[in-house]
Amino acid sequence: MRLLVCGGAGFIGSNFVRARIEGHGDEVVVLDKLTYAGRRENLQDVAEAPGFRLLHGAIEDREAVARALGDAEAIVNFAAETHVDRSITEPDAFVQTNWLGTHVLLEAARERGMRYVHISTDEVYGSIDDGSFTESSPLAPSSPYAATKAGADLLVSSYVHTYDLPASICRGSNNYGPYQYPEKLIPLMVLSALHGEPLPVYGDGLQVRNWLYVTDFASAIGHVLDHGVRGEVYNVGGPDECPNLEVVERIVELTGADPALIEHIRDRPGHDRRYSLSSEKVRGLGWEPQVRLQQGIEQTVAWYRDSPWWWEPIRSGEYRQYYERHYGRALSAD
Ligand code: NAD
Ligand code: TYD
Repeated sequence: MRLLVCGGAGFIGSNFVRARIEGHGDEVVVLDKLTYAGRRENLQDVAEAPGFRLLHGAIEDREAVARALGDAEAIVNFAAETHVDRSITEPDAFVQTNWLGTHVLLEAARERGMRYVHISTDEVYGSIDDGSFTESSPLAPSSPYAATKAGADLLVSSYVHTYDLPASICRGSNNYGPYQYPEKLIPLMVLSALHGEPLPVYGDGLQVRNWLYVTDFASAIGHVLDHGVRGEVYNVGGPDECPNLEVVERIVELTGADPALIEHIRDRPGHDRRYSLSSEKVRGLGWEPQVRLQQGIEQTVAWYRDSPWWWEPIRSGEYRQYYERHYGRALSAD
């Protein structure tokens, strides 16, 4: 298949591109703004694949999208601002990319009657104390990030209903694995533990996330692209739920870090307590997750330990400023 993958230089997008090129022989063009989170290195092992191109451009730029589309048969859209904490302090880019950018892609897909697969998140449903969200659960986003993702999902659904656009939505739970920018919980804790730095747990650390290994999400998206019913939403939840503190304690064990590095700091405003997705519908397409949390954390720690080539440039760049801005005062105040 010939695919336009937007946001394909980020964490999940690059894992998806690799899986499609290596597992299906797809020809992939990536359109990516290459923000702090988008990195050419994430795609270096597919850079020479037949038909592969990485184009630098934003999804909200109609001309860049038209140029990138070429003779693609489908668009898969990962492009987004993705970090909840950044959405709390700097929400503008979230509205711009996640909502307005999605609209530009939908218009391009509508003009061409193209297949469109939209990558979304469990955070559009908000927090759930017991049980799991299904695809028909109401949307109740808590953070600006989640709200812009929910807005985009509603736009996609409106294009399905109004224009009969052959679109599908995949709502994934928390992903982890290789190539994840170290602002998110697991890579932040792994790199901090490897460097003997504080491990900042928000509040009591008993918030629960439904962990999904990134290659499992990539394969679920492939199932939806290839076999998903047009117009449908598919939840993709990981096989295990775990409180944050237990995840951090496991990382401490695996890295041999000092447990005294764990610091409870002030909680995130509006912090969702628990996420949980029912994945019955996507399992009906033949998808099964392959990686349990225990194994996935071990693989992730091993990858970060063996990949200083990947994280050294990150830790010396924008990330350092973000870290100081976000954690500096909280850690020194405790
Ligand atoms: P990421 O932050 O690692 O990557 C996002 C990518 O989008 C980067 O390559 C970035 O450069 C690019 N991008 C940002 N703004 C752009 C724009 N205006 N135009 C073009 N490209 C732009 O994010 P990720 O974790 O890989 O998430 C990918 C998608 O999956 C997002 O839509 C996110 O909402 C969704 N998702 C993420 C998770 C998770 O746990 N990380 C879970 C479920 C769903
Ligand atoms: P995160 O990786 O930001 O994903 P999300 O907010 O999309 O779930 O955070 C995962 C969980 O870890 C969330 O409950 C917030 C918590 N967390 C911390 O306790 N400390 C941190 O430094 C970070 C980044 C997250």
